[in-house]
Amino acid sequence: MTLRDRTKSNARKDSQVLTLHRPVCTLDNMELLPAGCKLTSDTLQSIISSNIKSKPKTYCLLDYGSTKKDLLYFLQIPPYKTIFNDRALVSDLLQLMENVSLALPFLESLDYFSEYDTYTYRHILMVFALSTLLAKDLIPDYKMRIKRVSTSPTHDLGKTCIPLNILKKTTPLTKAEYKTLEHHTIAGYVLITYYQRNHTDLAAVVARDHHEKKNGSGYPRGIELKDLLVEIIAACDVYDALISPRPYRPVSFDNRSALEEITSRAEKNEINWEVVRLLIAYNRKNNNGKIKADISFEKRGTEPPGNIYGKTAE
Ligand SMILES: [Fe+2]
Ligand SMILES: [Fe+2]
Repeated sequence: MTLRDRTKSNARKDSQVLTLHRPVCTLDNMELLPAGCKLTSDTLQSIISSNIKSKPKTYCLLDYGSTKKDLLYFLQIPPYKTIFNDRALVSDLLQLMENVSLALPFLESLDYFSEYDTYTYRHILMVFALSTLLAKDLIPDYKMRIKRVSTSPTHDLGKTCIPLNILKKTTPLTKAEYKTLEHHTIAGYVLITYYQRNHTDLAAVVARDHHEKKNGSGYPRGIELKDLLVEIIAACDVYDALISPRPYRPVSFDNRSALEEITSRAEKNEINWEVVRLLIAYNRKNNNGKIKADISFEKRGTEPPGNIYGKTAE
């Protein structure tokens, strides 16, 4: 490609650029980009060039602090206890997860969440475990699978840029607060681009796109999700959010209602059917995902009382 072609192609991409709603800062409070900044290819290139530190060392995620112990504990809590009920399967899965190494800034973000936002800490580990389980069946190549699932523990990295009073708010978020929360996707993209010195890094793409939907009704860009790995992480993200107690919803969805909710989202073409079908199969006792689940469209679960998931304050 000639320089002229590249400039033209960059200009085309820049016509759909994202604008930062808030600044993007590292955990040690260094501002990478200010609020209002347009995320053009030149901007992305400038943050890559600004990283003059030597490449950070990577460490095995499961060997970091109490990560493995915490993960094994979380796997025992229903409904994960049913999904991960087979010992041989869990041991296979752990072997796969032990191959995942992350650079220190990413591991430090886990320390941050473990200290200040335990919901997000648990959520990151469970989305990692669940997406690894589903990827095991849906992404056939072993090495490729490891490379791809290593992007799930950093999917919510951008939440380090969101004020804790919004992440932990116990009443419905206002529209403005939702907008602030949505910033975590682009913030994660910028942070990972900076640390990995690459804006096409898969982890950066996952951080940016994990709230996009198959039918293009998600955020931040409203694009149609097409990448299977991102679709797996997006489905696990919604499922884990539904079954977890949240600051604004002390009672979580029961498992049946959560599965019904993601089924209805698959019906609306928001979530990938293949992923939903597999998740339901793993929720059937002693199935281990081997038998393709028949999906019932009958609504038999009950939403938690006072559920305000996805609802905004006036
Ligand atoms: Fe997220
Ligand atoms: Fe998430």
